[in-house]
Amino acid sequence: MGRLISDIAVTDRITEDKSITKHIPVDEKTGKTKKLYIESYGCQMNFSDSEIVTSILKREGFDTTSDINNADVIFINTCSIREKAEQTVRRRLQQFNVIKAKKPDLTVGVLGCMAERLKTKLLEEEKIVDIVAGPDSYRDLPNLLNQADEGLKGVNTFLSREETYADISPVRLNSNGVTAFISIMRGCDNMCSFCVVPFTRGRERSRDPDSIINEAKQIFDQGYREVTLLGQNVDSYNWNAQINFALLLEMVARINPELRVRFSTSHPKDITDDVLFTMNKYENICTYIHLPVQSGSSRILGLMNRTYDREWYLNKVDRIREILGNDCGISSDMIAGFCSETDEEHKETLTLMDYVKYDFSYMFIYSERPGTPAAKNFTDDIREQVKKKRLQEIIDKQQTLSLERNKREVNKVHRVLIEGHSKRSNDYLQGRNSANKVIVFPRKNLRKGKYVNVLVESCTAATLIGNTIT
Ligand code: SAH
Ligand code: SF4
Ligand code: F3S
Repeated sequence: MGRLISDIAVTDRITEDKSITKHIPVDEKTGKTKKLYIESYGCQMNFSDSEIVTSILKREGFDTTSDINNADVIFINTCSIREKAEQTVRRRLQQFNVIKAKKPDLTVGVLGCMAERLKTKLLEEEKIVDIVAGPDSYRDLPNLLNQADEGLKGVNTFLSREETYADISPVRLNSNGVTAFISIMRGCDNMCSFCVVPFTRGRERSRDPDSIINEAKQIFDQGYREVTLLGQNVDSYNWNAQINFALLLEMVARINPELRVRFSTSHPKDITDDVLFTMNKYENICTYIHLPVQSGSSRILGLMNRTYDREWYLNKVDRIREILGNDCGISSDMIAGFCSETDEEHKETLTLMDYVKYDFSYMFIYSERPGTPAAKNFTDDIREQVKKKRLQEIIDKQQTLSLERNKREVNKVHRVLIEGHSKRSNDYLQGRNSANKVIVFPRKNLRKGKYVNVLVESCTAATLIGNTIT
């Protein structure tokens, strides 16, 4: 199998920054007259929002197109989480300029977090933009498009306390037909000092559980076999003080044992024993928790306003292992070089990683965001070179841990939901096990959407490689 590892393993999973990865939808040909090209950046919630936007525009007579030159309307759904994410969007707008020069009727709209953060400033800074629409204003898009048609600029960056788009059935874009994401809440009330999300997404609000269950049932009937419940902080889901996240999870798990359930993101301060026990109770709730720590130093965690310290976090990890066992996947987000972080404090992040043995992490250099508490109260004083060095050490540590964790899985049989072809070869399929590990195996005559048992024979830090058994 040695040759196969280099041929088919997906090693870029270790370092990809999703905030600068773009999503483009497939072509839809339902005979509508106008064409929408929508490109999305940022987190999964942003990709979900693009599906809501597409649903709203379909009613207005639009089909999606993957060919930007064919579009009547270009929407770019943006992310502000780090400076780099915004730079990527600005470069794209320059490229749209070239297209618009040839096609003056073209409408260009900036949606999402960058629209919310910059508001009308975007119109001044980027002359090409006709529409600026924040994350809570998508129902207003038909109206904003009409304004643009009349040669006016359309702006709506109103943030709502209620909007959850609960009644809008998303048009699944970029879908493999097997795994789907369902937003269960919007916004965030946490105010981590480094983070722009509370400013771009507004106050936290939960979505009506009936609409969540109906959407999950619907996609199961359409052949999907996995849902991921999405929110910036799913464990604080709360519907009228009657349904908390543990109950919601249970309701979704009961739809059908063949429907896998995942969720993201869990804030360490909010994930309860109840949630862990519910995960244990239902075979189809995947044993995987994304539990971002951000830093291993209690002083830095205090400055970050994460509301837990190192010890508290480690106790939570112990509790997870106690209730769900050592096979439960745990992943994290890490920020290198936050304001005033010393070398010693950085090393505490590395030793915390050693203790937890994360399966996987998203790792970032601290990027100061205007208007956040950290930007107002602290100095971004760690030199870029030092930040980079620390990030590299964190990445190297994660690489070692991922490999170590994956090696434990060799010679074991895993239940895998097939998601489609492997990224490198059509002769191989890929899917994930309960703990969210990517597993690649020969295609044979198997099809996506089915569950198979795979005996893992080898691994890299990013991928398990094996063969199906009957
Ligand atoms: N709600 C999730 C995270 C959403 S943002 C949570 O609380 O865990 C995703 C990740 O981006 C964060 O976990 C953090 O690691 C990173 N991030 C956020 N703001 C950042 C900044 N200013 N600089 C660098 N990374 C940042
Ligand atoms: Fe940002 Fe913190 Fe909210 Fe996550 S929990 S979105 S990091 S403020
Ligand atoms: Fe980015 Fe907004 Fe998501 S800032 S990470 S797109 S909530």
